[in-house]
Amino acid sequence: MRFQTAEPFRIKMVEHVKKTTKEDRINWLKEANYNVFKVKAENVYIDCLTDSGTTAMSKNQWAALMMGDESYASCDSFFKLEKSVHDVFDIPYVQPVHQGRAADYLLAKLYTKPGKIAIGNMHFDTFRGNAEVLGALVEDLVKDEGKNASSPASPFKGNIDLNKCERIIKEKGLDSISVIILTVTCNNNGGQPVSMQNIKDTAEFAKKYNIPFVMDIARVAENAYFIKTREEAYKDRSIESIIRESVSYCETAVMSAKKDGLVNIGGLFLTRNKDVFTMANQLAIVHEGFLTYGGLAGRDLEALAVGLREVCDFDYLDYRIKQVEYLGNQLKLRGVPIIEPTGGHGVYVDAKRFFDHIPQHEFPAQRLVVALYEEAGIRAVELGACAFGSKDPITGKDVWPELETMRIAISRRVYTNDHMDCIANALGYIYENRKSYKGLKLVYQGPIVSLRHFTAGFELI
Ligand code: F0G
Repeated sequence: MRFQTAEPFRIKMVEHVKKTTKEDRINWLKEANYNVFKVKAENVYIDCLTDSGTTAMSKNQWAALMMGDESYASCDSFFKLEKSVHDVFDIPYVQPVHQGRAADYLLAKLYTKPGKIAIGNMHFDTFRGNAEVLGALVEDLVKDEGKNASSPASPFKGNIDLNKCERIIKEKGLDSISVIILTVTCNNNGGQPVSMQNIKDTAEFAKKYNIPFVMDIARVAENAYFIKTREEAYKDRSIESIIRESVSYCETAVMSAKKDGLVNIGGLFLTRNKDVFTMANQLAIVHEGFLTYGGLAGRDLEALAVGLREVCDFDYLDYRIKQVEYLGNQLKLRGVPIIEPTGGHGVYVDAKRFFDHIPQHEFPAQRLVVALYEEAGIRAVELGACAFGSKDPITGKDVWPELETMRIAISRRVYTNDHMDCIANALGYIYENRKSYKGLKLVYQGPIVSLRHFTAGFELI
């Protein structure tokens, strides 16, 4: 064990990546209106835009893929997936969907109501979007330390603040709350974990007030690793048993399988409530496909059935989380301000501190994304003024989010620590020269403000 510290896998297939010149990248940025979503992936050297659907699959997953059958109804592949779900999560009713946001749609349709509030630690955008389209309201009630990118390191910054939940019930009345959702890990504030204690307390709180309790388990295995390594009572427990206990407290769980399912496409809507399952089936037939494939090919169901089991491997998770931590440490050595501690699926650079001379209405995090691509061909994503900024519905004034970060998402089993060094060196260089950068001006946004970061256009100031 002592010397076995490298990646717990051999690389069996490679994808060539292109090295590009700074001159080319400057042109491509201009063409993309300084929105890296529009930069061609082939022109990206290290792609850290997302950890979603970018996993390298294992040989067992590729082998399983070939076993996928394409029969429409009650195919073998579904029953293999169902068995994996039962073994890993111990949740009886399984509706596959084509990806996480389709499960978010079912969740919003079945658990929210127009004018009523869905409370949670921090809702992911696709649940928020689905809920808002249906006329529901959403509130993020994460602990204060989870909303402050410069708060001191602490083990569970994804925890929901149940005092805030209590307060909102007192202020608005129990009847105004439709559901409580815990997202584990909490993507929007750094991939920060939620403790088992917080999951249990939330379940108890939900029970006391008779509010349905649901979880978004896109990164539940990474969360389980943090519970095992940071929560004393769980240090001797297996990852499998921690995952099973984590989800044992909720009625329903939604999963984008493109993260901890270790697959390139797929999602799950899982429930213990038979009535909810029946309704989910009906909606899935209209929107996704038949009950047993949910918009996925048999091949995808097979790969997921294997991926769900593989992700429970402690050695894999240990490598995974430590690679993210390694990048965080390299950045800290170079003075780059990040959310601490590093979370599960990426490093979040605090752009407010990084570019402290660029005001939020000039999009400091987006400016950093642009600089990183320009200097090194590395693509990250903005989670700040563009992604989370909004307009006050009454005054029409801009409302800026508390967190202004650039997320460097790390794909699973894809990059080596040499790639991490390369990212750290590039960002270290930009940090040294930070005062030479000016902000950006937003010149285009789509009609739905909460989705503007996908298509927004900017100009350099
Ligand atoms: N829930 C969480 C916590 C997510 O992070 C995502 C996606 C979804 C739901 C939606 O899943 O993409 O399969 O439809 N997150 C990606 C990201 C897009 O880059 O963080 P999906």
